[in-house]
Parts: sequence; structure tokens; C-alpha cells
Amino acid sequence: MAVLETVVIAFWAMLPAYVPNNAAVLGGGGRPIDGGRTLGDARLLGDGKTWRGTAAGITAGLVLAGVLTFFADDVSSVLGFAVPAFEPLAALGLAAGAMLGDILASFLKRRTGRQRGAMFPGLDQLDFVVVSLPLTALLATQWFFTWFTWDVILVVVVLTPILHVTTNMIAYKLGLKNEPW
Ligand code: CTP
Ligand code: MG
Repeated sequence: MAVLETVVIAFWAMLPAYVPNNAAVLGGGGRPIDGGRTLGDARLLGDGKTWRGTAAGITAGLVLAGVLTFFADDVSSVLGFAVPAFEPLAALGLAAGAMLGDILASFLKRRTGRQRGAMFPGLDQLDFVVVSLPLTALLATQWFFTWFTWDVILVVVVLTPILHVTTNMIAYKLGLKNEPW
């Protein structure tokens, strides 16, 4: 498989997992998931993880997966190679897995004494990959292994941190995010 093809498939397949974090920033606010509860000296998750943000993120991922699925055939014929249409459970695994990974990361940040908004290099960039890929493999096994071949996974692991840093820098410059990570 040509490298460019692999990159396009990886990016397309991951879009429903990429967009939830950004949608959560836009839609966030209101009651925190942990309801203010603490574990030890620190909050369980913190005020940065809200029900509304999580719902906005998952919804955005699902809607985007639907839109991409609608265009998948046409885009495939224009490109000359197939890009994935998303099965409902694959879309759910990617979108919900991304939000779950982000929540898990906040849990780990609070356990390691990091305040809300503190950075955690590595975890910040890959938290959603670490959960969304296994969850999708679990929920839509055949779909997952059809599209997420080893070379696609490798591209995802390399491409994701680059995209994450870039989009967060843009969101920061636009005043949407308080920190550039
Ligand atoms: N957000 C949300 N719900 C989520 C994820 C994000 O409401 N499940 C919103 C919050 O307003 C949050 C912002 O998006 O402040 C940025 O997300 P993120 O960087 O993940 O949170 P932080 O505020 O940096 O908090 P943490 O240190 O826990 O990551
Ligand atoms: Mg943050």
C-alpha cells in the first residue's frame, strides 16, 4: 500500500475519534462528571470533564462518522482506493473511546498531583488513541481489523500527536482553550 494511501485511510478512519476532544472544548461546561468528589487530596476528575462536554464530544464524533459514511463511496472512487464507511458500533467505539481516554487521562493527572489544565506529555497526545482503538476492536472487531492494519496503526500513532499539538495550538490562539496542549 502506498504511504499516502495509508495516511489518508488512517486520518479518515480516526476522524470520529479526533473531533470529540475539540467538540468537548466548544460544548463543555455545567456539571462536572465527578460532581466535585475527591479521592485523597485531589478531585476525582476535575472541573475540566463535564457531562455536557462529553455528550457534545460523542455526538460530534457520531455525526461526523455518519457524514463520512455518506460520502465514503464517492470519495473512494475519486481517490481510486477505498476509505472506510463506519459501522454504527465502530463509530461509537471511536467517539466514546476518545472521550473515555480523555477522562482516564484526567483521572491519572489528578492522581499524580497535576492541576486542571496541567500538561502530561505523551498522555495528552495519545490518551484517546489508547482507548478508542481497543474499544473499537472490541465493539466492531471485523471492521476494525479490516481497516486498522499494522501500517495504518503506525501512521495513527505518529500522526495523532502532530495533529493534536497543531489543533490545540490553533484552539489556544483562537482563545477557545486556556492552554496550548
Ligand atoms: N471538556 C468537557 N468535558 C470533557 C472534556 C473536555 O467539558 N469530557 C471541556 C472543559 O471545558 C475543559 C476543556 O474542554 O476545560 C478542555 O479539555 P481538556 O484539555 O481535556 O481539559 P482540562 O481543562 O485541561 O482539564 P484536565 O487537566 O483534566 O485535562
Ligand atoms: Mg487540558
